[in-house]
Amino acid sequence: MLQIVYVSSLAPGARIDAAAMLATARRNNGRDGITGMLFADGKRFLQAMEGPPEKVETTLSRIRRDPRHRAIVVLSKRNIAQREFGAWDMAHYDRADEGDFGTRVRELTSAASPAVRATIEGFVALRTERPD
Ligand SMILES: Cc1cc2nc3c(=O)[nH]c(=O)nc-3n(C[C@H](O)[C@H](O)[C@H](O)COP(=O)(O)O)c2cc1C
Repeated sequence: MLQIVYVSSLAPGARIDAAAMLATARRNNGRDGITGMLFADGKRFLQAMEGPPEKVETTLSRIRRDPRHRAIVVLSKRNIAQREFGAWDMAHYDRADEGDFGTRVRELTSAASPAVRATIEGFVALRTERPD
């Protein structure tokens, strides 16, 4: 199985309907055997995807072509023996969500490799501390 973690930024002037985007992602990912999670803070995204290598690559190509975001940077790409983010179709966390964001993120990333976990926690800390 392949695991890819990337970050990207909302394109200038773009608006994303989170519910509609998640519905599309979950429909496609369910079909393709892809699971993972997606963080959004209104400006930036961090997504982890896991699944059959060719399906993950195809999905990433599709996501790269999406003009609603830009500056996609793949932070980590590795083969994994089993899913590290659980069987979520695409767990979604928004900074505006209720509850302790950091705690939920830590729960969700508990099985990920130390490097991937550190990357995600760093992103979350940065994005939750800065008010802009
Ligand atoms: C931050 C971000 C994350 C996305 N994640 C996924 C995803 O996990 N799976 C997916 O199929 N599409 C995802 N999309 C949407 C794709 O860019 C694209 O719009 C969609 O795959 C097209 O699907 P369709 O051809 O079935 O309409 C994401 C888009 C953005 C901006």
